[in-house]
Amino acid sequence: MVSRVIPVDAFDLVVFGGTGDLARRKILPALLRRYCVGQIPPNASIIGAARSGMERAEYQEFVRIALQEFVPEKTGTAELEGFLERVDYVQIDARGTDGWADLVARFPQDRIRAFYFSVSPVLFGDLAERIRSNGLVNDRTRIVVEKPFGRDLATAKALNAALAAHFDESEIYRIDHYLGKETVQNLMAVRFGNMLFEPLWNSQYVDHIQITVAETVGVGGRGEYYDQSGAMRDMVQNHLMQLLCLIAMEPPAKFDPDAVRDEKLKVIRALGEVAPYHIARGQYEAVPSNPQAQPSYREAVGNPRSTTESYVALKAHVSNWRWAGTPFYLRTGKRLSARSSTIDVMFKDAPHSIFGESAGRHANRLSIRLQPNEGITLTVTIKEPGPGGMRLVDVPLDMTFAEALGPTAGETADAYERLIMDVIRGNQTLFMRGDEVEAAWAWTDPIIDGWNARGEVPEPYETGSSGPAKADQLIARDRRVWQGIKP
Ligand code: BG6
Repeated sequence: MVSRVIPVDAFDLVVFGGTGDLARRKILPALLRRYCVGQIPPNASIIGAARSGMERAEYQEFVRIALQEFVPEKTGTAELEGFLERVDYVQIDARGTDGWADLVARFPQDRIRAFYFSVSPVLFGDLAERIRSNGLVNDRTRIVVEKPFGRDLATAKALNAALAAHFDESEIYRIDHYLGKETVQNLMAVRFGNMLFEPLWNSQYVDHIQITVAETVGVGGRGEYYDQSGAMRDMVQNHLMQLLCLIAMEPPAKFDPDAVRDEKLKVIRALGEVAPYHIARGQYEAVPSNPQAQPSYREAVGNPRSTTESYVALKAHVSNWRWAGTPFYLRTGKRLSARSSTIDVMFKDAPHSIFGESAGRHANRLSIRLQPNEGITLTVTIKEPGPGGMRLVDVPLDMTFAEALGPTAGETADAYERLIMDVIRGNQTLFMRGDEVEAAWAWTDPIIDGWNARGEVPEPYETGSSGPAKADQLIARDRRVWQGIKP
């Protein structure tokens, strides 16, 4: 199945932090891929902006090298050359006046203008102010910002205020790249495109829901940032929270930005306080046979006394009519046994078994695999084949999207491709609104403050395991078990 590509209107996109890691690894490769499929018109322009003094040709060479590394299949193609022709560079001082007149000169036409803040959040306010005061704003201006969007409610409020001083909320695109993932959007398609699930999607039929985002990678070269954040700020406050919202929200009246974001916000605001014994934190240990290549968390971040968590599991409640009594178990961690993001909707047992006790207990499960191997599995109970009485067995109805939709479905666009094109189209549905981000911090802050106040230290866990023992105890107390972390 080949997806249709609808070209976007011509635009000028400025990438502040154009020489940074995110630009190299994600933004520029995403733009090249969209250019190659014909979604970006040939007269669009992409302007890198950063502190370094560089000529246009030098920057084009920088971009070429990045693209050769991250989109190797396009190396040496006419498409790559055509793309590089679209690329320009401006040396700019985000906090001063240098370079702004040059930037203004790069906008000869009144068309879509996108400003991507791929820089430290401390610069958001300065950039916003200068874009406005230099007259760069037209009626089709978009501001794109990346996480971390604050480190608590107070800092997130300050960032929102700094942007709101110069831009309307309808012009601000806060990226959570999980919302750009194909299967994350599929959550909405599955829930609201089928009659089958929605009538059962409530506490009457759903026993509990598990949301797992497991990674095999460690903190890598991001130790300094990560040690100040931890899994709670880095993953739960944003990515897992967004998944929870999409799973728990009421059907929006339509698939439009505010309708969807209003419903997500209601979920976040309905989240109850999390008791300390409903949380487990962990920190990964070194692999004893290979501590050099696979060091412990503390070694990786260079902080032997660090009490930052690389794993967190918690039990949350959405206190509303739909979900009263159905817990949501969330867990995420680094250096676990497999890379796997899955949502398991665990249905209740049938209310009465006509087959008697010997048939055992059986419950349906809907597993939505977000990555890798995107797909859906519905576990149903059937009779075990053969003579010998009525024995029941659970079997999976399994659909892997790549198999079901054909090979090209496997080549789904990277989240950044989709999100950047949505920015250009002016569609905010897959971006976080300011009030959503603040509500998410308002829920997260007391949890983190509680750890600090109690001086809690995360429990060590083995690299390649499924996390700390406390996480198992957390769910076992409720007579439930985590679903396996399967690649
Ligand atoms: C980022 C986090 O937002 O998401 C990283 O900062 C994490 O720590 C990453 O590794 C996971 O993203 P993905 O797309 O690989 O699941």
